[in-house]
Amino acid sequence: MFDVFKKKSKTSSEVFFQEHRYFLAKNLLTPELLEHIQISWNAFEKHPFDQVFVESEGIHREDSSWVKPFTTVEFGAAPFGVFLLTHLQKSIESILNLELVPTYNYSRKYNRNAVLYAHRDRPSCEVSATICIDQETDNKEPWPIWLLNNKNYAGYKYESFFGLSQKKSMQERSSIGCKAISMQPGDVLIYQGINVLHWRDPLEGNFSKKYFYSLCR
Ligand SMILES: [Fe+2]
Repeated sequence: MFDVFKKKSKTSSEVFFQEHRYFLAKNLLTPELLEHIQISWNAFEKHPFDQVFVESEGIHREDSSWVKPFTTVEFGAAPFGVFLLTHLQKSIESILNLELVPTYNYSRKYNRNAVLYAHRDRPSCEVSATICIDQETDNKEPWPIWLLNNKNYAGYKYESFFGLSQKKSMQERSSIGCKAISMQPGDVLIYQGINVLHWRDPLEGNFSKKYFYSLCR
């Protein structure tokens, strides 16, 4: 029922997206565009523009062993976000060989110890994209986003996702095919939002800025 992406394919990226339910588009943002977004975002973090960002306390799951408090900062209507909403549409359509309609976007800054618990996206996120804008980690390496893409999880209950994926040990994750995707600024991860479980373990670093983008057919 949710296997909506099956059709005759031509491009390697389209085939990969159909088979693996995701595709990593390296350097899809040009250096100039990336720099523009980074400078804009930094400016919005300063008074008085910082008032348009909403800082939220993170909430840990009760069945999680992670307890350190954390915050995230979200901005749903950043001008650069509105621009990317239409600017990236043709690129993503071309990569997937699909005609798509943008549904929404938002920008989120994860602060130290932030966790993104395993979930799939809502129906309006038939195709989701997450873009790495900027990051400052302790080990200078990207903060990975994890995927479990071995089947369509659209029909599964939300409560089951953590136990099925993120709660597992690294060895168990490996054995069931979980993937840790490393992204540099400018990289765009496109995935079947309603079908792929995705998460991030606690951030060991000062911040990671991500832009989220959703499209529907
Ligand atoms: Fe998500």
